[in-house]
Amino acid sequence: MAMQFDVAVIGAGAAGMMCAAVAAQRGKRVVLLDHAAKLAEKIRISGGGRCNFTNLHAGPQHFLSQNPHFCKSALSRYTPQDFLALIKRHRIGYHEKHKGQLFCDESAEQIIRMLKDECALGDVHWRMPCKVGNITRADGREGGFLLQTDGGEINAASVVVASGGLSIPKIGATDFAYRIAKQFGLNMVEPRPALVPLTFDAGAWAPFVPLAGIALEVDVATGALKGRGATGARFREDLLFTHRGLSGPAILQISSFWLPGTPITINLLPDMDLAQILIEGKGSLKKQLGNVLGQWLPARLAEGLLVANGFALDARVADMPDAQLRTLGQAINQWQIIPSGSEGYRKAEVTRGGVDTRELSQQTMMATKVPGLYFIGEAVDVTGWLGGYNFQWAWASGAAAGTAL
Ligand code: FDA
Repeated sequence: MAMQFDVAVIGAGAAGMMCAAVAAQRGKRVVLLDHAAKLAEKIRISGGGRCNFTNLHAGPQHFLSQNPHFCKSALSRYTPQDFLALIKRHRIGYHEKHKGQLFCDESAEQIIRMLKDECALGDVHWRMPCKVGNITRADGREGGFLLQTDGGEINAASVVVASGGLSIPKIGATDFAYRIAKQFGLNMVEPRPALVPLTFDAGAWAPFVPLAGIALEVDVATGALKGRGATGARFREDLLFTHRGLSGPAILQISSFWLPGTPITINLLPDMDLAQILIEGKGSLKKQLGNVLGQWLPARLAEGLLVANGFALDARVADMPDAQLRTLGQAINQWQIIPSGSEGYRKAEVTRGGVDTRELSQQTMMATKVPGLYFIGEAVDVTGWLGGYNFQWAWASGAAAGTAL
């Protein structure tokens, strides 16, 4: 005999636990299943162990999706202030770090415990670790869905797929949501790694390898920034040189917008027009080029960039033609490079794409073609910027489904 539930939530991560708690506290009989042995690993490792659990300024403009309007309803009905109220109710200390990003004072474990406690308040049933095999429409009296699991059969009137995206397979990410979407005939937006370090061909990157470890604030842009259908973006954040390419918040942000084969443009001195300053200051800048640049950039970076661009470190600015200084200015204020790829799902914080939002109700997250089947969280084609937005989407979409079930 299959166990009977009103709701089966698959995936006990951020979105799944929120959804299960909300539905169960509304009186639904909810079972929450996860194949992992350890609960909510992504929350645990998030924000360097302190979980950047929301962003005070979160709004639809901070999300990428083929339908940018889709996230509006859920985000407006469950706001950062709503999650903050929950945090305060559980007496979790928090602080704002940067641009509205809120972190736990102590540990991400506190968020996991809070969500677990919220599930307990509603008497959520747990199956974990538990593998879910087939999901089929249940015929007969009960209706709903039949789930084959390695803990036995489950019959649920509704199924919520909260199994996330493909990022970090090492801690349990799978394509389960996408497989279920396809099985029930729902369209997908092709998934790809996002919020991920970018890499370069070994040969092209060789001059920059010695710069690994250098970090500085830059302006980074990609794609068309203006006009109808502009898909580009620009961010002012820190960049980090690595052995294989570029990382740091600036690169993670731009990686979500970057299209393979296209360049990114980095302004390494975003607050100054280098060519103009060098040309106008020629009379007074009697020093060698390496020393002049070293006033504004880390010395190792200044040297590396000069060498990579074919300039002699000991050239005297005063002796250099204006055209050459303009070329140097361009190389530093508008460094244009084409990444060969990214570090992939192994390092990506999130997955772009997923279940096509045109298949889902923006109020409830239910698949309009398959009554009773819901998709929430990262499994859906809604991807936040870096900075607490992805968790806010997990809470908001989880609460939207949890309220509608
Ligand atoms: P999530 O991935 O959290 O949960 C999915 C669950 O489904 C997992 O427990 C998994 O085991 C389970 N599952 C998968 N396949 C299954 C299957 N076949 N059967 C059963 N269960 C299955 N965001 C943010 O806003 N602030 C931050 O600080 C960070 N930091 C961060 C750091 C790192 C290193 C990463 C990788 C990611 C972040 N993120 C983040 C992103 C954030 O973690 C992510 O967007 C949310 O966890 C997504 O929540 P979901 O519940 O949708 O998926």
